[in-house]
Amino acid sequence: MAKGMSASVQGFTYTKDQPLLTRIVENRALSGPESEKDTRHFSIDLAGSGLTYAAGDALGIYPTNRPLEVEEIIEYLGVTGCELVDIPRGTGALPLREALLQKLSLSGPSRKAVEFFAQRATDAGERARLEALLAPEAAARLTEFTAERHFVDLLHETPSARMTPQEFVALLRRLAPRLYSIASSPKRHPDEVHLTVSVVRYQTNRRDRHGVCSTFLADRVELGETPVMVFVTESHFRPPEDPRRDVIMVGPGAGIAPFRAFLQERAVTAAPGRNWLFFGDQRRASDYLYREELEAWRSGGHLARLDLAFSRDQEERIYVQHRMLEAAPELWRWLEGGAAFYVCGDAKRMAKDVDAALHRIVAEQGGLPLEAATEYVKRLKREGRYQRDVY
Ligand SMILES: Cc1cc2nc3c(=O)[nH]c(=O)nc-3n(C[C@H](O)[C@H](O)[C@H](O)COP(=O)(O)OP(=O)(O)OC[C@H]3O[C@@H](n4cnc5c(N)ncnc54)[C@H](O)[C@@H]3O)c2cc1C
Ligand SMILES: NC(=O)c1ccc[n+]([C@@H]2O[C@H](COP(=O)([O-])OP(=O)(O)OC[C@H]3O[C@@H](n4cnc5c(N)ncnc54)[C@H](OP(=O)(O)O)[C@@H]3O)[C@@H](O)[C@H]2O)c1
Repeated sequence: MAKGMSASVQGFTYTKDQPLLTRIVENRALSGPESEKDTRHFSIDLAGSGLTYAAGDALGIYPTNRPLEVEEIIEYLGVTGCELVDIPRGTGALPLREALLQKLSLSGPSRKAVEFFAQRATDAGERARLEALLAPEAAARLTEFTAERHFVDLLHETPSARMTPQEFVALLRRLAPRLYSIASSPKRHPDEVHLTVSVVRYQTNRRDRHGVCSTFLADRVELGETPVMVFVTESHFRPPEDPRRDVIMVGPGAGIAPFRAFLQERAVTAAPGRNWLFFGDQRRASDYLYREELEAWRSGGHLARLDLAFSRDQEERIYVQHRMLEAAPELWRWLEGGAAFYVCGDAKRMAKDVDAALHRIVAEQGGLPLEAATEYVKRLKREGRYQRDVY
């Protein structure tokens, strides 16, 4: 059992407001060292907690910010970090350092923040630069400016603007918990919850940025030591109630997470329905997440089909929807046989393209005009046979 966790508290419901305090017990690289990405498998201890979950649920995690960024802010403010501040929806004053580490979001400065810095700037050049961004015709530039900056950038670029810790803190929003699709079945792992996390690292405004929660998990949590607050959010995304139903799962990148849970669940329960997985990522050699597990399921027959799309192993990008189109006649036969179709992962591009491919397959294979194909897909949704967990 995790250090510091009380004995079993069966019957207690953990929520966003009353999360479970636990520990991370595994942090394993899923992507290889030569990958352009950093995708990790985490295991979180539930033993004795009474916290329950179902395949398809998501886990909420309260992260903390990077200490380096917090110390930089304290230095720019010219204070010690011990000053007491009140935060939005707080329950009493707390030291600035603690508020910045645990409670407040250090990214996404608002227009109001830019206005405040412009008012406080005593240097004419600094003030003019910010005021130019606040002009009505500069709306697009302001959006770009704030998207590329964290609060530490505003402090760095406007050194003449002086403010108290409380005035600074009043510009910040609360730090929100992040959600992750659960990658394990409680029937296989009742005392653990697994996650598949794509670690967010990028550069803007010539600074390295570190996604708050993904780098908290990857870099700052000490295994078995750091207390981590988690809660489960129940989902409508579920394996079929009828175990005989076939399932088609499309989950590129970290989108594989809930399908690992579905596949574990359907293996433990010996569900007779067939399983078909479409997985994709950048390169087979470095980004084939859960390769051994997937290939064992494929060779053992638990996966009736495993279709892979490694986008950067050739000149032309190949994505999961291209594999769907290649397998269109069989995919259509599965749908006509009652299969359920699931998608998880990137909402902005992948899920839209997969949806378009599904419509095309239904229209072409079913010999249906566009309107009838749209109606067919709508019916799949109404029957709970087309479910998406996209973000
Ligand atoms: C229901 C649900 C399930 C999810 N499941 C998973 C999952 O299983 N696995 C998983 O990895 N994630 C999952 N996510 C996403 C996850 O919740 C976080 O959003 C993700 O980990 C990033 O959080 P962060 O705190 O690390 O980054 P943040 O600090 O929140 O930073 C992310 C932000 O940085 C900016 N950004 C990111 N990349 C760039 C770039 N290249 N250039 C410029 N700006 C950029 C964007 O504004 C982005 O919104 C899920 C989300 C939801 C809602
Ligand atoms: N907010 C952001 O800026 C941002 C950026 C990345 C990821 N994310 C989020 O993090 C989640 C997980 O990311 P991840 O790193 O595991 O995987 P990912 O970025 O979704 O990439 C997984 C695979 O999907 C491919 N892909 C890109 N565009 C696609 C499209 N239109 N259709 C189908 N496949 C496509 C990628 O190919 P290529 O990369 O070779 O094109 C890669 O092979 C994403 O689902 C997304 O929500 C957010």
